[in-house]
Amino acid sequence: MDTMTSLSRAIYETILLAYPEAKDIPDAKGIRGFLEVPPNPEMGDYAFPCFRLSKVLHMGPPMIAKKLTETWEKGEIAAAEAAGGYLNFRLNRVNFAEKTLQAVLEAGSDFGRGDEGKGKTVCLDYSSINIAKRFHIGHLSTTMIGHSLKRIYDFLGYETVGINHLGDWGTQFGKMICAYKLWGDRESVEKGGVDELTRLYVRFHQEAEMNPELEDQGRAWFKKIEDGDEEALSIFKWFKELTLKDTARVYELLGVTFDSYAGESFYNDKMGRVLDELKEKQLLTVSEGASVVDLTDDGMPPCLILKKDGTTLYATRDLAAAIYRQDTYHFDRCLYVVAYQQDLHFRQVFRVLEKMGYAWAKNCVHVAFGMISYEGEALSTRKGNVVILEDLLNQAVEKALSIIQEKSPNLENKEEIARQVGIGAVVYADLSNSRIKDMDFRWDRALNFDGESGPYVQYTHARCCSLLRKAEAAGVVCDELHGEHLQDDEAQALLRLLSRFPDVIRDAADKYEPSMITRAVTDIAQAYNKFYYEHRILDGDAAAVKARVALTRAARDVIARGLYLIGIDAPEKM
Ligand code: ARG
Repeated sequence: MDTMTSLSRAIYETILLAYPEAKDIPDAKGIRGFLEVPPNPEMGDYAFPCFRLSKVLHMGPPMIAKKLTETWEKGEIAAAEAAGGYLNFRLNRVNFAEKTLQAVLEAGSDFGRGDEGKGKTVCLDYSSINIAKRFHIGHLSTTMIGHSLKRIYDFLGYETVGINHLGDWGTQFGKMICAYKLWGDRESVEKGGVDELTRLYVRFHQEAEMNPELEDQGRAWFKKIEDGDEEALSIFKWFKELTLKDTARVYELLGVTFDSYAGESFYNDKMGRVLDELKEKQLLTVSEGASVVDLTDDGMPPCLILKKDGTTLYATRDLAAAIYRQDTYHFDRCLYVVAYQQDLHFRQVFRVLEKMGYAWAKNCVHVAFGMISYEGEALSTRKGNVVILEDLLNQAVEKALSIIQEKSPNLENKEEIARQVGIGAVVYADLSNSRIKDMDFRWDRALNFDGESGPYVQYTHARCCSLLRKAEAAGVVCDELHGEHLQDDEAQALLRLLSRFPDVIRDAADKYEPSMITRAVTDIAQAYNKFYYEHRILDGDAAAVKARVALTRAARDVIARGLYLIGIDAPEKM
């Protein structure tokens, strides 16, 4: 049992002892939820705010705190002290060290795993790239936040479905085919891939400015795709394959996978049902020739369902997609990891689903995130100021390699480790901010081996591994754990962070915030390094060595798991 749980139980038992007549006392689990960490460590390790009991006990918090302190008999867990309306606890360091280490080492890298999600399904819509465009860093956050959340939910026992809702529908594809027919040829598209498609698309816009008639041709080609014209469809399918081949390399580098690639075009034949239903439920109104769902009462502009020319829109496809996902996966929650600019779109779509009578609409969540800039510069596809993700990742690996060559010239397998470190640096940078904040990618920060960075945490993990190798070679076996050797401040600070790790994972899941895990592994790495510098892990008294090695192993296991949960590899040597 972890310390917070045993402390909560002890508090619960003490309340019962102090107030045997009282009713409606929160149980140990409820009490655990009330426990706080005092702002100042001088005050204690945990605090219980007694005002949580004043209602059921009809008494002021300071009175309760005083009475509970007098009744407290759980010295083996913690010492209790009343401070105003709070009951402050100072953990028994020996007991705390033993309990925490035992819990972590028993579970190993499964420490914190849970089954609270058993029987529940979470759909995650992430990455969701657009066809015929290069994968640029604007799509990094959705990819990595979604990937991390999927791992987090998996770890908590949920069934997860990762969906890449491809942007593979829209008039731009008609324009692209039109441009290809006019100025392109098979060979150069095969060779140039997405770059060649982009070139054709840009040319289309330039020429259309002088020759607006081209726009009609582009639309006509799109109509052909929609109507299932063989030539149009086969060209379009080919463009799509080219893009997916291009992006597969990026996903491979990042280690990101999906369970489904059902994108916008997948819903082409599934929108009729949505339209019929909207009509039947009398939700459609015509406004300037277009069909919309009025959302005035909700203080939102109307949700566009059909354009004047009868073609469907982004929102129409999202309605069909949500219904399809509910029918297919029976999700308990459907997460959309998409930039905050699409906030209105999702509020509209979710509201329309609600108006259609789908109670599950409240389980759809827009997991929004902020913008990314590069070395202080805003990025814009329109201005041609883009950073291609594959280039960035390759550059990161190269830079990591040259740092490693300098720092550890004798390391085996340098290329593979440089790959893990370079990619880890980029992913860490992306997931270190709380997701809604805008973030600026900077090389000096991402690859700073001494700062708060992916390489720093990875390096700490490798340091733990190396120590454990040495310990093993020296025949150290951690069979007995003597907490009295881990009473110092550094060990205790590290143990506290380790013991909280399971709660951090749950918080991260509840708030859809991988950055909480990034924070936790960074704190653990820093605490470990402090411990490492203050103590000679492998020297001295045999029992003390055992205890310190056990703590090292616990730190390594938790760091490895934490990195995994945010999608970063943990090399054993660096
Ligand atoms: N392809 C869109 C974009 O790049 C994101 C799609 C998000 N998912 C969704 N179901 N709308 O902006």
